[in-house]
Amino acid sequence: MALDFLSCKFEDTPALINTFDEAPLWSASFGLLLLKHLELRPCLTVLDIGSGAGFPLLELAQRLGDSCTCYGLDPWANANARANEKIANYGVKQVKVIEGSAAQIPFADGAVSLIVSNLGLNNFDEPEKVFAECYRVLAPNGRLALTTNLNGHWHEFYEVFETALQETGHSNLIAKLKEQQTHRGSTESISSLFTGCGLSISAVHKDEFTMQFLDGAAFLNHYFIKLGWLASWLSLVPQEHHIAVFTKLEENLNALAARNGALKLTVPMAYIEGVKG
Ligand SMILES: C[S@@+](CC[C@H](N)C(=O)[O-])C[C@H]1O[C@@H](n2cnc3c(N)ncnc32)[C@H](O)[C@@H]1O
Repeated sequence: MALDFLSCKFEDTPALINTFDEAPLWSASFGLLLLKHLELRPCLTVLDIGSGAGFPLLELAQRLGDSCTCYGLDPWANANARANEKIANYGVKQVKVIEGSAAQIPFADGAVSLIVSNLGLNNFDEPEKVFAECYRVLAPNGRLALTTNLNGHWHEFYEVFETALQETGHSNLIAKLKEQQTHRGSTESISSLFTGCGLSISAVHKDEFTMQFLDGAAFLNHYFIKLGWLASWLSLVPQEHHIAVFTKLEENLNALAARNGALKLTVPMAYIEGVKG
């Protein structure tokens, strides 16, 4: 309702403060790129694919206001529960989280006017199937906007990892490491997922940022590395060689950090937008 805000009183409750830290720092850089380039329009039906703990779903819902309805779609039950806590604590009415996969979007053909995905979509299993679903649910002139990290991501780390594999006698594993590295794609390969399902590219914006860590030990022990990355790196190396390879990796990262004053890792990223013509 208009002027709702006049009767609101901020309440400093544990529940609200528990959900105050809105976005992982990692997600934030990509989300800011999305929020910078996305053109906002009234009366949209919006779907955030891979909405996780509610970012950018809730931020976007609030920036768009009451005339738009926003949905988040994610199979991750614990993350959806946290997103729902934020929805309740912030009192955002025009937003709903749905548990499910973008491989089968629970909307009718043409029901959505804008799909966004921050660090999702192009990284899912079966991306072609997911893009085809996006095309199906988009209305004519509907837009799909995603942000993603690109090939070249953390190249300083991957170069040191490659050397550590060589130095410990595991050059045969380098091809698998490169596969993990290039899984992220380029603006060209990601754009071809858009055009492959029938969308026309309407915008591509590239940017990059640097993350710095005191040394390799600080990087490898960061909670975020354990949450999102470590398992895939460990899976490359047979368990009996973990200690040798990862000790060498940490040593080499520490040496790189000592040479450069810190471990500085580059993250190239892109905002890519397509439209259903
Ligand atoms: C890297 S996280 C990004 C989360 C959030 N958008 C952010 O920026 O913090 C990717 C999200 O995609 C979700 N996901 C994975 N496969 C999916 C699928 N098939 N359909 C929808 N979401 C999926 C994951 O559960 C996770 O929440």
